[in-house]
Amino acid sequence: MDYSIEITPLEKLQSDCVIVGVYEDQQLSPSAIALDTSTQGIISNIVSRGDISGKNGETVLINVVPDSSIERILLVGLGKKEPLSGKNYRKALAAAINSLKKPQIKSVACCLAECDVATGDWQWKTRQIIEVFSDAVYQFTHLKSDKETESKIEKVCICAPQSESALAQAGLEQGRAIAEAVNLTKHLADLPGNVCTPTFLAEQAIELGKKFDKLNVNVLEEADMEKLGMGALLAVARGSRQPAKLIALEYQGGDKNGKPIVLIGKGLTFDAGGISLKPGAGMDEMKYDMCGGAAVLGTLQAAAQMDLPLNIVGLIPSTENLPDGNADKPGDILTSMSGKTIEVLNTDAEGRLILCDTLTYAERYNPDVVIDLATLTGACLVALGRVPSGLLGNDDRLCNDLLIASEMATDSLWRLPLWEEYQELLKSNFADMANIGGKDAGTITAACFLSRFAENFRWAHLDIAGTAWRTGPAKGATGRPVPLLCQYLIDRTPKA
Ligand code: BES
Ligand code: MN
Ligand code: ZN
Repeated sequence: MDYSIEITPLEKLQSDCVIVGVYEDQQLSPSAIALDTSTQGIISNIVSRGDISGKNGETVLINVVPDSSIERILLVGLGKKEPLSGKNYRKALAAAINSLKKPQIKSVACCLAECDVATGDWQWKTRQIIEVFSDAVYQFTHLKSDKETESKIEKVCICAPQSESALAQAGLEQGRAIAEAVNLTKHLADLPGNVCTPTFLAEQAIELGKKFDKLNVNVLEEADMEKLGMGALLAVARGSRQPAKLIALEYQGGDKNGKPIVLIGKGLTFDAGGISLKPGAGMDEMKYDMCGGAAVLGTLQAAAQMDLPLNIVGLIPSTENLPDGNADKPGDILTSMSGKTIEVLNTDAEGRLILCDTLTYAERYNPDVVIDLATLTGACLVALGRVPSGLLGNDDRLCNDLLIASEMATDSLWRLPLWEEYQELLKSNFADMANIGGKDAGTITAACFLSRFAENFRWAHLDIAGTAWRTGPAKGATGRPVPLLCQYLIDRTPKA
């Protein structure tokens, strides 16, 4: 979809549909008032009849507008006439775009950036319009014979007064970059495991590197991992016939010697559990076990597109976890790149095994901070459901920065404790640690495991097992936590 900012007055706009807001108690938004005047009261008529009450998310499409250059008007309920919360603003936007998918509408003029939102200026609101609209029209048709998508919308212009157009323009650039990053992430995640293999992911990264001068991509092969002593990552890869890859993306947008922000994404392209095989029901969803890796690719694309003046490194360990005669087995003891030994008590706890060697590898970048994102534990779903991602880390400032970014991006996070007491659960009789901690506190013990490989830098871990994709009839990737990471990077950008 093509987005632009429009400062032309409403009555001169060419578009198939104009979207305006209506509050409760028959109160109209400024654009609705303007349109009402130029259409002999068509809107106030509908409102006073009670055909729209103004409740948040309600919509009424006025299909014919007599004696006007405007083809259609979509009225969207905004709730009480008071500043909207960020979440309610997004709810109204989603309702608006969803109601326009079916009709034959190609171009839309959106006048909802003028609504008062408690937490957002014109830049934020413009960005949200783009993020919410793109999210709503995304459809994975790539592998269907009929590639036609539900929505026919090609163009969206966001109406802004001249006085706000600079902020709106800034929001447009960010919104586009973030929405495209989310789309890339969703697309890679929705691809099946037989297409999106570690080799495929590596090729996508290399292609991305070709698009931006400041982005260099390097792929480590199994032989390289062997030389580095990545015994944990390689143990997981042993069960797979697909060669494992460690994808390294280096974005150099900041000072030559500036310490980078390192993002590590779990890139398990299919997780059957290995010898500790998972039950069959719903196992198809384990193609999504690479969502962390896909989000790293998306975030680096957005950073490069926004030309952020930061140094960012993306690391994606990628393999499959399958049962095989050569696979690692319960009881096996691995030596990680750090030298620490690990007793594998469950081969299905493979994410931490591929991440631990990648964390050790990250040390060579002398990172400012390291953030890993991983669909790591089913326990995270039990603890937090599908609303926030889990956050754990060894540095309060980093965790707080991420929490602030998550609020701003409406891509929520909830911090869990990483207290010393939990570390005991990883005790092994035969090695330095076990790879699982038993049935209690599964998300925390997984993070405890990772923390042992993150002692030399400020580090945070995002468990995205509940947020990276939706299950059920609306099964599909969400692209989270790309909006959150992009916001964190924007916040980290030195102010001019
Ligand atoms: N990829 C899974 C985690 C997962 C499971 C994410 C379900 C989303 C939905 C991970 O590799 C895994 O299998 N974790 C195990 C750990 C356990 C063996 C300690 C789990 O959560 O069951
Ligand atoms: Mn697993
Ligand atoms: Zn997994």
